[in-house]
Amino acid sequence: MKSHVIVTGAAGILGRAVSQCLRDAGYGVTGIDRAPADDGASAYLGGVDLTDGDATRDAVRQAIADRGPLHALVNVAGTFRWETMADGDAATWSTLFDINLRTAVNAVRAALPALREGGGAVVSIGAASAIKAGAGMGAYAASKAGIAKLTEALAEEEKDHGVRVNAVLPSIIDTPANRADMPDADFSRWVAPSAVASVIAFLLSDGASAVTGACLPVTGRC
Ligand SMILES: NC(=O)c1ccc[n+]([C@@H]2O[C@H](COP(=O)([O-])OP(=O)(O)OC[C@H]3O[C@@H](n4cnc5c(N)ncnc54)[C@H](OP(=O)(O)O)[C@@H]3O)[C@@H](O)[C@H]2O)c1
Repeated sequence: MKSHVIVTGAAGILGRAVSQCLRDAGYGVTGIDRAPADDGASAYLGGVDLTDGDATRDAVRQAIADRGPLHALVNVAGTFRWETMADGDAATWSTLFDINLRTAVNAVRAALPALREGGGAVVSIGAASAIKAGAGMGAYAASKAGIAKLTEALAEEEKDHGVRVNAVLPSIIDTPANRADMPDADFSRWVAPSAVASVIAFLLSDGASAVTGACLPVTGRC
């Protein structure tokens, strides 16, 4: 095994693509998600609510006990809501901050001691809308801007501990959910999950050893 990577949100569309890409590159992957199902091809801890700090810490401990020292963390868990300020619900802001940001904060806090031992790396999934938000994207973009600022601050904090910290900022990923929501769009302009995954694999690799604190747009032709 090249090294051990935890992928959160591993049961989702992008999480599955990232797990597969990293396994193909020779990494040992532990997936963590609240979904109970296992994709069968890698170690997987299901039923974990990553908004719960204690549950996240237990899952990361379990992953290390099962699969050995940890070298990297990929924060994929997240979600999306489109709603305007006029018609939306204030609770959506809490929901998106919990699922898009708190999950990553909890995973980083749980994994950091192990990552420091292994000269590790963190990659988180932000969003292009964190740079320029469109209508209806306020809560989502604000939560993903949180990922960008977590990335920048943590990268500075960890420079002397040997942990690199980066983020990718996709626009629209070509997923079944997006195809169903936007049936008339030109899907060829979107980014394939495998294409996002290969950028993540690069950011984890030795080829990116000089890269930390980057928030990299991965936007295809959107
Ligand atoms: N799809 C896009 O166009 C797009 C664009 C830019 C950025 N992104 C970001 O990319 C990431 C993956 O997106 P995706 O399209 O692959 O979404 P997805 O298929 O819904 O996958 C997200 C996964 O995260 C899990 N999850 C959510 N909250 C969790 C929690 N509290 N604890 C543990 N697991 C949790 C989900 O479980 P449940 O199914 O139980 O919720 C799901 O398995 C997200 O961070 C998303 O915001 C997506």
